[in-house]
Amino acid sequence: MHCGEKDERRQHADNSFGLRIDGLKESLQIIIRGILEMEVVVDRGKDGDIDSWKEVQLIYNSALKQISTKLEILNDEFQHVHRYNPIEHIKWRIKTPESIVKKLKKHGYESTIDNMVSHVNDIAGIRVICSFASDIYQIAEMISNQSDIRVISVKDYIVNPKASGYKSYHMLVTVPVYLSDRIADTKVEIQIRTVAMDFWASLEHKIHYKFEGNAPEHIKEQLVECAQMVSALDARMMSLNEEIQHIEQENEE
Ligand code: GTP
Ligand code: MG
Repeated sequence: MHCGEKDERRQHADNSFGLRIDGLKESLQIIIRGILEMEVVVDRGKDGDIDSWKEVQLIYNSALKQISTKLEILNDEFQHVHRYNPIEHIKWRIKTPESIVKKLKKHGYESTIDNMVSHVNDIAGIRVICSFASDIYQIAEMISNQSDIRVISVKDYIVNPKASGYKSYHMLVTVPVYLSDRIADTKVEIQIRTVAMDFWASLEHKIHYKFEGNAPEHIKEQLVECAQMVSALDARMMSLNEEIQHIEQENEE
């Protein structure tokens, strides 16, 4: 998946301008530098700490597997009890070393494994796409209620959309990863949104990338308008669904 829109922006650039060799070379250099810088810290790793990029990948990947399994179980159970699937699909990704190094630099941190684990909260990202807005809160609650999950923070961009018009429900959680000799509580960023919100976010990020963050005012205004249309559509679809469920229940009685 590509949870981090910013990572996508970078990748999108390389894809859409396929032959931008300079950009590609630069990216590769940053990635290699990033990996090399991270390898340096292997010697400095404290006992029991994550001490190599390979281990980082393994642990965050395991955390993603756990969260996605939890979500799949909830979805199956929902199908069993309520006869519908709240989750349309799930995407996940591990942040690239290049993006991690960039983020650390942006915040003034050295590229060390310790710093990435402590300061980069979205190394593991999972995106849950739901049918209806009401599903978002149900899923968020079901995940938070699980005893092995610790919710570190929540950002509700549905109640408080960003100035861009962006809407989504973000949760930063930790999940225990059981290794042979220890338990690593691992951070995962969960983004939950509707299909319509996801459609908007992917178009907006493409536009944002194309204009390198400086899209013309009239385009930004239209995106905000589209975001309002997305909210209206979500509300309409939700009430339509409620009406249908109500009719179904009446027919069963
Ligand atoms: P980052 O440094 O981007 O991770 O910001 P943050 O740690 O303050 O987190 P925030 O919750 O603001 O955003 C995290 C992620 O949400 C981004 O990486 C994007 O995937 C998504 N996101 C946030 N704002 C926007 C937006 O305006 N448009 C789109 N398309 N995606 C957004
Ligand atoms: Mg982020």
